[in-house]
Amino acid sequence: MAKESRRYRPNLLITGTPGCGKTTTCELLQRRLPDFTYYNISEFAEKHKCYEGYDKDRKSHIVDEDKLLDELEPLLHEGKSIIDWHVNDVFPERLIDLVVVFRCDNSILFDRLHARGYHEAKIQENLDAEIMGVVLQDAMESYEQEIVVELQSNTTEDMDSNVDRIVAWEKNWVEQHPEGVTNELPEYLAKKQGKKAAQEESESDSESESASESESEADEESESEDKE
Ligand SMILES: Nc1ncnc2c1ncn2[C@@H]1O[C@H](COP(=O)(O)OP(=O)(O)OP(=O)(O)O)[C@@H](O)[C@H]1O
Ligand SMILES: [Mg+2]
Repeated sequence: MAKESRRYRPNLLITGTPGCGKTTTCELLQRRLPDFTYYNISEFAEKHKCYEGYDKDRKSHIVDEDKLLDELEPLLHEGKSIIDWHVNDVFPERLIDLVVVFRCDNSILFDRLHARGYHEAKIQENLDAEIMGVVLQDAMESYEQEIVVELQSNTTEDMDSNVDRIVAWEKNWVEQHPEGVTNELPEYLAKKQGKKAAQEESESDSESESASESESEADEESESEDKE
């Protein structure tokens, strides 16, 4: 039997609305965790040509998530990864140990995005996403709540304390997992994913039932129109 693949250091996912401070913080973090590998996913996708098109309105490439994961997943088996991306719900749950969601006050975020020269619609789209907490919500829906941590990133003091907290968390994880953790699907996640799939299936069944109901209503309507 093939030996089970395990990691002995955690994979850290650093996420948040564009401009919240992921990359700046990750650069500081990597200095404190020098044996970790830093993956800026926007750059990684470009380097590995993980694109499936171009969004003219957003003036950005559309990332092919399947190709991205094909390239990235084997690298995550080693652990010791810092992953930096504003999208967080694409990474396999079994390979992520901590999800940090950076948050930022709107006026500060406006100034940062404006300084980047983003056009008004793009600034507004990101400010709306930050107000509604879209990234945090995605993280809560995609990972166990215990591993999702929300941190403010408004000031340089915030940034320093965030780096300290993540470094302390990493040290603690290593102490608590002397045997490492499996890269394969653990039982509790298999059960959870099975339940989720069954729930989605029943939701899509009831959606298609109500769609066919409204179809038949529409048929009746058109029949009655025909009669008139
Ligand atoms: N906590 C903070 N305090 C002060 N300035 C910050 C903080 N976080 C980020 N900044 C500044 O805000 C700008 C945007 O930060 P950064 O590029 O790290 O964001 P990002 O989350 O990586 O964005 P993107 O998703 O677009 O890559 C940078 O100029 C950075 O110096
Ligand atoms: Mg960045």
